[in-house]
Amino acid sequence: MQPDPNADPQPKAAVLEARGIVKRFGGVTAVDGISIEVRAGRVTAILGPSGSGKSTLLRCLNFLEVPDEGEVLFGGVPVRARDRDLDGLRSRVGMVFQQFNLFPHLLVWENVALAPRLIRRLTRESARRLALGLLDRVGLSDKADAHPSQLSGGQQQRAAIARALAMEPAALLFDEPTSALDPELTGEVLGVMRTLALEGMTMAVVTHEVAFARAVAHEVVFMDAGQVVERGPPERVIDAPANERTIRFFARQQPLAGGGDRR
Ligand SMILES: Nc1ncnc2c1ncn2[C@@H]1O[C@H](COP(=O)(O)OP(=O)(O)OP(=O)(O)O)[C@@H](O)[C@H]1O
Ligand SMILES: [Mg+2]
Repeated sequence: MQPDPNADPQPKAAVLEARGIVKRFGGVTAVDGISIEVRAGRVTAILGPSGSGKSTLLRCLNFLEVPDEGEVLFGGVPVRARDRDLDGLRSRVGMVFQQFNLFPHLLVWENVALAPRLIRRLTRESARRLALGLLDRVGLSDKADAHPSQLSGGQQQRAAIARALAMEPAALLFDEPTSALDPELTGEVLGVMRTLALEGMTMAVVTHEVAFARAVAHEVVFMDAGQVVERGPPERVIDAPANERTIRFFARQQPLAGGGDRR
């Protein structure tokens, strides 16, 4: 199902917003003046070549990096580096990484229950109940009492998604969640992400999965060299790009597959 951004007359509020952010590492300008809005209930897909600054942008949106210039707003309020509640804000913006980063010594349900226990101070019993519900949502009820090492990569990533959901985040950010996975495991993770999107989760997804972006994203943002080169609905940016760098990128991603239908 293709969500149609034009079908919705109500502009959605931005949960997260970057305004003119610049992030440098020594002599490298990783993010070079980017403004982007992650809107409530919408999926923003961020695509672009390696080194174009996608991860850095995402880390700025999650307050893991502080921009050198510009600002990031959460719920319309600018987030400052010296905000006392930066950890609290961070827990409201879930992040799912390429490497799942589950704690190997904890059971799967304990991984999911950890943050709610530490930060939301849930009892072990109610945290377990919460974790089991979330594991059910990602199709992992039967793995709750396993160790992460007993799970496939796709299952581990779904557990990581359940862990991110456990804090009831206002938005979920994904940084290439499937690029460490075999194709068949990629599908099951993308399936969970698609379900979350249909349920109205606010998401920003850095991905190389063009078909996923086309099917699920409301907006596609194409980046190159730290800048947004092109943005808009997927049917325009992916299937009818205007910028020469975008054209080259998507031509490489879809090398005449499926009968060579090039637009
Ligand atoms: N912590 C860091 N220290 C120094 N340079 C960094 C750091 N993080 C990123 N960079 C540099 O910033 C630029 C953008 O990196 P970034 O990881 O954001 O790109 P990316 O689009 O996510 O790439 P990929 O698709 O390979 O993940 C690169 O030139 C990278 O080397
Ligand atoms: Mg990256």
